[in-house]
Amino acid sequence: MRLPENLWYPVLESHEVSLKPKGFERLGQRLVFWRAADGKPYAHHDHCPHLGAAMSGGRVIGDRLVCPFHGFEFDGEGVCRHIPANGKSGKIPKGMSLPNFVLREEHGLIWLWWGKPWEVFPKTPFFPQLETNWRYGTVKVEWPVHYTRAIENQLDVAHLAFVHRTTIGAGGRSFVDGPYVVADEEGIKVWVTNLVDEGRPSRSQTELAAAAVGKEPSLIFLFPGVWLLNISPRMKNFIAFVPVNDQTTLYYLRVYHHIQNPLLAKPYEWLIGLSNRFILNQDRRVVVTQTPLDSADAEDRLIGADRAISQFRQIHARLLDRNS
Ligand code: FES
Ligand SMILES: [Fe+2]
Repeated sequence: MRLPENLWYPVLESHEVSLKPKGFERLGQRLVFWRAADGKPYAHHDHCPHLGAAMSGGRVIGDRLVCPFHGFEFDGEGVCRHIPANGKSGKIPKGMSLPNFVLREEHGLIWLWWGKPWEVFPKTPFFPQLETNWRYGTVKVEWPVHYTRAIENQLDVAHLAFVHRTTIGAGGRSFVDGPYVVADEEGIKVWVTNLVDEGRPSRSQTELAAAAVGKEPSLIFLFPGVWLLNISPRMKNFIAFVPVNDQTTLYYLRVYHHIQNPLLAKPYEWLIGLSNRFILNQDRRVVVTQTPLDSADAEDRLIGADRAISQFRQIHARLLDRNS
């Protein structure tokens, strides 16, 4: 699949990777994820270089991933360390290695570096707003959509009064004042007010810019795939968008909050998770009908309210152009 390169993609939540190797489809690849005995996570193509068996059916011994078919042992870098049939003193043929991916584990997520290795890798794209003292609960959902449509849906500030008429869009606030959008290759910040249409035009970009000074954006997106919705100073929604393949996108949707007592936090997370899932399902009903799947192929006629979507498309196209 076509993806902007040289970026950190969130691909899994930490708890999904364990000492038992597991196969996952991510970024259009069949991958195996596992943890060595010291806890470090690793990822490779889920394909043994010997006779092509899935490594995810194997097991972990110490710091090695062992193929279920003929017991070849590979370390975390994918180097073959032992071929049982050749014996302890036997040679390892050249090229007998398992392609591996560079991973990071931060913020309860596994991040995969998609691109050539760098001498010093950049920071993982995350929100400093969420770094201290927050707790979160996650809902994981899979949609049969391309990731561009999934992301754009969360940058769309004109759909609330329609798609979410019975929930967060109640009240007929169909008029979009703005949005004011600041975008660069790191991400997109959006300030927006939805109003009942009283016949007044939207404020100018200059007026909106002045009004945004000192105010947190309503939402922020960071390339390639994390999103933050500012619900209140003590509650945020977060999404990690994970491209599975050209037809499938995974959402790790989290509510971040400050309830420290786990006895209260768990039911709270469950309840908000339920409501978030319901709201997201309202989006799903419409987004799965959008054609073409990849918005890069679309001839959509955007309007002023779609400013964040149009920024996403422009920057996303620039990032793709930059691929080697
Ligand atoms: S197929 Fe993996 S060791 Fe033979
Ligand atoms: Fe929505």
